[in-house]
Amino acid sequence: MPQNTIVRFVKRPQGFVDENSFAIESAPMPQPADGQILLRNFYHSLDPYMRPRMTEMDSYIAPFEVGQVMEGGGLGVVVESRHPDYTPGDVVRGMLQWAEYQAATPGAMMRTLEPGRVPWRHYLGVLGSASLTAYVGLKLIGEPKAGETLYVSAASGAVGSIAAQIGKIRGCRVVGSAGTDDKVAWLKGELGLDAAFNYRTVTSMDAAIAQHCPEGIDIDFENVGGETLQAVLDHIRPHGRIVMCGAISEYNEPGPGLERIFRIVSHKVRMQGFIVSEHFDQMHAFVAEIAEWLRDGRIKYRETVVEGIENMPRALVGLFRGENFGKLIAKVGDEPN
Ligand SMILES: NC(=O)c1ccc[n+]([C@@H]2O[C@H](COP(=O)([O-])OP(=O)(O)OC[C@H]3O[C@@H](n4cnc5c(N)ncnc54)[C@H](OP(=O)(O)O)[C@@H]3O)[C@@H](O)[C@H]2O)c1
Repeated sequence: MPQNTIVRFVKRPQGFVDENSFAIESAPMPQPADGQILLRNFYHSLDPYMRPRMTEMDSYIAPFEVGQVMEGGGLGVVVESRHPDYTPGDVVRGMLQWAEYQAATPGAMMRTLEPGRVPWRHYLGVLGSASLTAYVGLKLIGEPKAGETLYVSAASGAVGSIAAQIGKIRGCRVVGSAGTDDKVAWLKGELGLDAAFNYRTVTSMDAAIAQHCPEGIDIDFENVGGETLQAVLDHIRPHGRIVMCGAISEYNEPGPGLERIFRIVSHKVRMQGFIVSEHFDQMHAFVAEIAEWLRDGRIKYRETVVEGIENMPRALVGLFRGENFGKLIAKVGDEPN
């Protein structure tokens, strides 16, 4: 009998999340019921939103319940099917358990993927929801125009790196920040950003933004929140747009709160949040554009792939310390042939 390893959420973290919130367990091999499929999962996406889901906060998605098996976006191959629409060998993307094997009830979130088009993990990476987030946020809220200044925080990450490059494609002057010199070098070199800085080593966010965005910021693609967002607000231009994509600096500890928010009024700023899952109708347009940009080399991407289901908790914690470079993915089993 194959072994089945699972990761359970066992404790709501207080403050900075650590591995004690998770337990790695051996579990019996699941048996699919009528209408279900047995999946062997092989890739999992690790994402910042999982930290707010560990609290009881009222949000767009239900909190993780203490004791449940962790879940998130993943890829699995059908081993056995008791569902008319699925056949053994099909590869699906869906909201999957942090488990090597699971019995799943296919729902609206589950999609069968076509083999051979791109490496499987790209469906969680450059063709996945993080890239779609960048595309949608910039298109629907940022509305970039050539010549405008776009600032992207967490710019070397899964969402940020794509937002920054789409900004370049749209003709913006793009400035990014990240937490290591290697990441900053990649942003300026490989991605061709107009400027980039290490937010950990600057004297202040305010001074860094003043230096690198001397004309101010027209569009902020906000991934970090806290002091970063405060500095943006102090340098936003009239009719600026703040694309509220995330606030990762506030997921473990509450942020300091914003000051001088009258600037939103005086500078007629639009600041809007969004959640990518409400915009899956943009998938077709996104895939058409990004496929072309990938073909002609205008979009580049990085992935950090962690091996082994037992390493997923540590990798997720590392996301909040900047240990990933690009999209963070866990490989928990062999890719299907
Ligand atoms: N609205 C939506 O639908 C949606 C969908 C997906 C993601 N998001 C948001 O988009 C943002 C980026 O997500 P992602 O999946 O692309 O992750 P990511 O950027 O690939 O990884 C997270 C990165 O955030 C940076 N970071 C972590 N803690 C930080 C802190 N305290 N201050 C500043 N930077 C910090 C780290 O990079 P450094 O080395 O640069 O510090 C880390 O590598 C997150 O805020 C996430 O919640 C929103």
